[in-house]
Amino acid sequence: MTFDRSIKIAPSILSADFADFGRECQAIEAQGCDWVHVDVMDGHFVPAITFGPATCNAIRPHIKTIMDVHLMIAPVDPYLQAFADAGADVLTAHVEAGPHLDRTLQAIRDLGCKAGVALNPSTPPEAIAYVLDRIDLVCVMTVNPGYGGQSFLHSQIEKIRRLRQMIGDRPVHIEIDGGVSPQTAPLVVEAGADVLVAGSAVFKGGSVSNPEVYGDNIRAIRAAGEAARIAA
Ligand code: DX5
Ligand code: ZN
Repeated sequence: MTFDRSIKIAPSILSADFADFGRECQAIEAQGCDWVHVDVMDGHFVPAITFGPATCNAIRPHIKTIMDVHLMIAPVDPYLQAFADAGADVLTAHVEAGPHLDRTLQAIRDLGCKAGVALNPSTPPEAIAYVLDRIDLVCVMTVNPGYGGQSFLHSQIEKIRRLRQMIGDRPVHIEIDGGVSPQTAPLVVEAGADVLVAGSAVFKGGSVSNPEVYGDNIRAIRAAGEAARIAA
């Protein structure tokens, strides 16, 4: 994985057909996505339950790009090895997912993955001030984690701007997760984001038998984001 700040669209397969992940991943990649975002939920850290390492392992051969695994689980440390073995490229843990964030991030890198840290809407940017050299990505949650299809929280724009300042020249991606659409993408890109996760806004109206809609949706988000990047 090389680092750059170009806009990357990462569809969340939380909005895909759960009985057809392989073909869904192939379809979004064929339609131009950059990363594939995989939402792991445990029914404890967040209300919903999705899937675990076995599903990630099954999806892996169908993904040629980056497998971006968002761990909404606590505790997270006991499961890092299993998700790394399942082929994750990026492993993102929440600040609140364990007592020793610095150790968790070191463990992720020691497993050979890029280390991400996710901030809930109520988590201040300063929570990661002393781990900035341990991370490759910060995920700003622009909804409360747990479900797709929620409304974008505008309160998070200022946080993105602050994180962009804190990161400075470090090779750290700013990923936005929740309520991203052609309407909200310009706001987050202008504030400093480069990775845009989108579930509903990518999968709405399409299917594996009608995948061109995924392409149209991906292009619409990318174009809105790129316009803001050029203007910024
Ligand atoms: C929310 C997940 C998101 C979610 C985004 O807990 O982490 O990745 O799927 O879905 P949309 O784009 O529909 O808000
Ligand atoms: Zn996510």
